[in-house]
Amino acid sequence: MKEKPYINELTGYLKASPTSFHAVSQAQQHLLNASFIQLDEKSSWDDLPPGGYFVTRNDSSLIAFHWNPDQLNGFKIMGAHTDSPGLKIKPNPAIENSNCLQLGVEVYGGPLLSPWFDRELSIAGQVFYYDENSVLRNALIDFKKPVAIIPSLAIHLDRQANKGREINKQSDLIPLVGIADDFAPGFGQRVQDQLLAEHPNSSLAEVVDFDLFLYDPSPPSTTGFDLQLLTGGRLDNLLSCFAGVKALVTAQQPGNAMVVLYDHEEIGSVSAAGAQGTFLADVLARLCKNQENLKNTLARSFFISADNAHAVHPNFPDKHDPHHMPKLNGGVVIKYNANLRYATSAKTAAIFRRLSLDSQVPVQEFVMRNDMTCGSTIGPVTSASLGIDTVDVGIPTLAMHSIRETAACTDCLSLYTIMHRFFSESQDKR
Ligand code: CO
Repeated sequence: MKEKPYINELTGYLKASPTSFHAVSQAQQHLLNASFIQLDEKSSWDDLPPGGYFVTRNDSSLIAFHWNPDQLNGFKIMGAHTDSPGLKIKPNPAIENSNCLQLGVEVYGGPLLSPWFDRELSIAGQVFYYDENSVLRNALIDFKKPVAIIPSLAIHLDRQANKGREINKQSDLIPLVGIADDFAPGFGQRVQDQLLAEHPNSSLAEVVDFDLFLYDPSPPSTTGFDLQLLTGGRLDNLLSCFAGVKALVTAQQPGNAMVVLYDHEEIGSVSAAGAQGTFLADVLARLCKNQENLKNTLARSFFISADNAHAVHPNFPDKHDPHHMPKLNGGVVIKYNANLRYATSAKTAAIFRRLSLDSQVPVQEFVMRNDMTCGSTIGPVTSASLGIDTVDVGIPTLAMHSIRETAACTDCLSLYTIMHRFFSESQDKR
């Protein structure tokens, strides 16, 4: 199978990226290995020589780019998001109830909740701490092993359970992390121990705060008799993040090309690091120096917003418009919406179609049924705030926002192939 080496690399990335912080840290490693240079938003960027660079914000969003000021004729930009819906641990999480130790959680974004029950769960995220010199620092932790579970209520205690039971987000979703025991370390101590185990040289004095999430530690895998399906957590939208970073790193003579990975898409993108924040605008303004240069660079730029698309579910085909049913293994999906919940226009779709034709991989189309409402992406936000021509595309996926999603291996490789072509060809083509 020609996609096997790509899928192996991709599953490595997925496995090491349980949170947006880890997804950025992994991308960062990939870029450093390819000799990209890390920039700091707090330093001056005057006269950057041609080369590969990247910068992060909140440690959970990242912009990487090839910079070639002498050939500045717009940017070829691909955007995706690093976050996924899930359960976030509350600041005072410890609960003791009915002889069980539990952790209070908040729902982040819009996950499908039922798949979170009866599944071994782990915890990962970032921790802020003071070191021995009272300097505030942060570090990533990942327990990796299962440390929690949300048990269902037995069917004998709820005979209606299979007829559609509502899940109360406050009371039904509290994970168990052990049996109450006077001598067991508290949650803060567990976090501190894990931080020291992963960062023995941190000179940790005191943990102050954290962004920690529950996740399913069972690794992504290929499945089906011929291993054509990829299943795993956070396929939406780490499939696109990986394709973008790898395409940027491997592009030939990329000129001015950029990948933007945003956090907070699943909660509406309103944050300093999100797509409605100033991250991309700030980076472009700093590179273009003056307003005139910036404005004509934006007018010549092209943005591909890549985010997973709904493949038609074989058990529920009537949930799709009969003439716009993206199929697994049918190629990258171009998403259309007359009310511009997706930013695609006939012009930007035409450009993407040519890219796919030149890459010799298929595309297909998605339009939501008129009697259902569709989601949105970072595409319209970027297009509206910066005035860049934008197309919304994505890999067809089943069970979107479940704890484990399913896509086809060939479609994953197809997105990378198109992005590689996009970054490798001259911006003059548009
Ligand atoms: Co998404």
